[in-house]
Amino acid sequence: MTETEFIPKAYTNFPEKGKVGWKAPSNIALVKYWGKKANQIPANPSISFTLDVSATITQVSYTKKKVDSNGFSFDLLFEGKPKEDFKPKIQTFLERIEPYLPFLKKYHFVIETSNSFPHSSGIASSASGMSALALCFLSIESKIQDMELDFFKKKASFLARLGSGSACRSIEGDLVQWGHHQGLEMSSDLYGIKYPFVVDPIFKNYQDTILLVHKGQKQVGSTVGHNLMHDHPYAEKRFEQAHLNLDKLKPILEEGDLQGFMQLVESEALTLHAMMMTSMPYFILMMPDTLEIINKLWRFRKETNVPICFTLDAGANVHVLYPESVKEKAIQFIKDELVAHCENGHYICDQIGTGAKQLFEE
Ligand code: PMV
Repeated sequence: MTETEFIPKAYTNFPEKGKVGWKAPSNIALVKYWGKKANQIPANPSISFTLDVSATITQVSYTKKKVDSNGFSFDLLFEGKPKEDFKPKIQTFLERIEPYLPFLKKYHFVIETSNSFPHSSGIASSASGMSALALCFLSIESKIQDMELDFFKKKASFLARLGSGSACRSIEGDLVQWGHHQGLEMSSDLYGIKYPFVVDPIFKNYQDTILLVHKGQKQVGSTVGHNLMHDHPYAEKRFEQAHLNLDKLKPILEEGDLQGFMQLVESEALTLHAMMMTSMPYFILMMPDTLEIINKLWRFRKETNVPICFTLDAGANVHVLYPESVKEKAIQFIKDELVAHCENGHYICDQIGTGAKQLFEE
């Protein structure tokens, strides 16, 4: 599909008011997206596990404006309180999606949002936040104009991408690929799609225990981060590698090859950080506790053969990934050895999820 196919036909009917609500999950990339072109087009394809517990709940009430005006009109409540500092991000999002949702200036919106995880936990709230909001606005459009479910999902992902790239992987579950890749003909730079190939049952209910090493604001925001890949000496090789890793992941997922999986996922995480260390300016986003966790995890894996591995976001927190069958052993190890490296001992027990859910529509 092309961008213009997401522009709707002229509307004929405008409801006076209503309210919609969605819950959308966060996601964790296995092959990472790092580097983008104009209009939130990824420099390389990526694939992620959709999460379950870490999610944003958003409801949007809409009331038709009495007098048409040329601007956007909205109030924003975060955890029940007005949140002025989130508004510029929403304003930019509205500007970007308005060509594809041309009803937006006709309404006043009240956006109420909250996360299932602490906002300052350093775990990506933009992916769940932007996908929940995109879904709410698209649900409103679907009241104005009928839409097929398959198109709805694609457009929701397309809109979410315009808010935050990785948010386009937070609409569906359980594995989502985004970005054009030769090995998957229907893949697109414009939206994420549910991974269509065979996946061994070992990856069902895969666990992700998120160790909150550092709960503050991230040192490098994602826009600045992605821009570091412009003129980066290793950029082209890295983009090529992401394509190769997607090819390699296919038989790994199909055959349930845990050794191959752990190797590929950890290498991707460290490559992401290597890109940040070798850019100009350069950053080290891991903290001493991040490294302690990685070393302890490697030692534990070597001694016990429990198939437990890690991945990282663009920050210090560690996602510990393992199959449900070793949950007890993994949790015991995490509690005994790793929680001490978390800020205030905080961690989140998450697992693969099935995607966003509509909560209500009035
Ligand atoms: O969606 P953004 O622009 O915040 O970028 C997210 C990038 C990583 O989380 C580091 C990797 C990924 O693929 O999710």
